[in-house]
Amino acid sequence: MNDTEYYNFIKPYEDAQQIMLTRLDILDHSLYDSASSPPIHYIQCRIKAKQSLEDKLQKKEIACTVENAKDYLHDIAGIRVICYFVDDIFNLAAVLKRQTDLIIIRERDYIANPKPNGYRSYHLITGVPVYCLDGMEYFPVEIQFRTISMDFWASMEHRISYKKNRGNQELLTAELKEYADILVNIEERFERHNEEEHRKRQTES
Ligand code: GTP
Ligand code: MG
Repeated sequence: MNDTEYYNFIKPYEDAQQIMLTRLDILDHSLYDSASSPPIHYIQCRIKAKQSLEDKLQKKEIACTVENAKDYLHDIAGIRVICYFVDDIFNLAAVLKRQTDLIIIRERDYIANPKPNGYRSYHLITGVPVYCLDGMEYFPVEIQFRTISMDFWASMEHRISYKKNRGNQELLTAELKEYADILVNIEERFERHNEEEHRKRQTES
């Protein structure tokens, strides 16, 4: 795959990502009533770099062609949605899943079922319809929904150990799992504050 092929290849993925970002932005200001705070803290997005796309195909032992990238990779367009609370994640995901023109390619709930290392996040791979001159085609966009504390843990874990083989792996894994458990506890305590505030607002109105 040369540079020109790569740039032509990613164009519709950029379009699909932009469409999804707009939908998320609309949900951020319309999901809750105006008295409540919006669900999204911030959003990050990226298009998989040429090198990282090639590395992934190579790891899968697949020839590095545009056709293979299209057939085997679902995370060329990636969006990370950082929310305040776990409920925000599932409320946003539920509404997206009801948008009938989207297709759900894959759903992975690492919040209900965290990875053994402590990784938590809710992953949705959606097929986004992109209309061009010669018709419509679905392009996959991987959305990772996380709370602030899930993202804190995942970012630190990624920095320290993800996909790297370091010595003393067992000790590190146990330590990371311990941090994940502490963060779940903190998150639940913040949630209780939020619920209390919510209850207060309801009794006032
Ligand atoms: P990849 O080949 O890594 O894309 O994984 P997958 O196709 O098996 O899908 P999965 O849903 O498990 O993971 C997709 C993405 O989630 C990864 O590329 C990471 O961004 C993130 N992720 C998954 N597991 C971990 C983890 O243990 N730690 C961190 N920091 N991120 C993770
Ligand atoms: Mg990935």
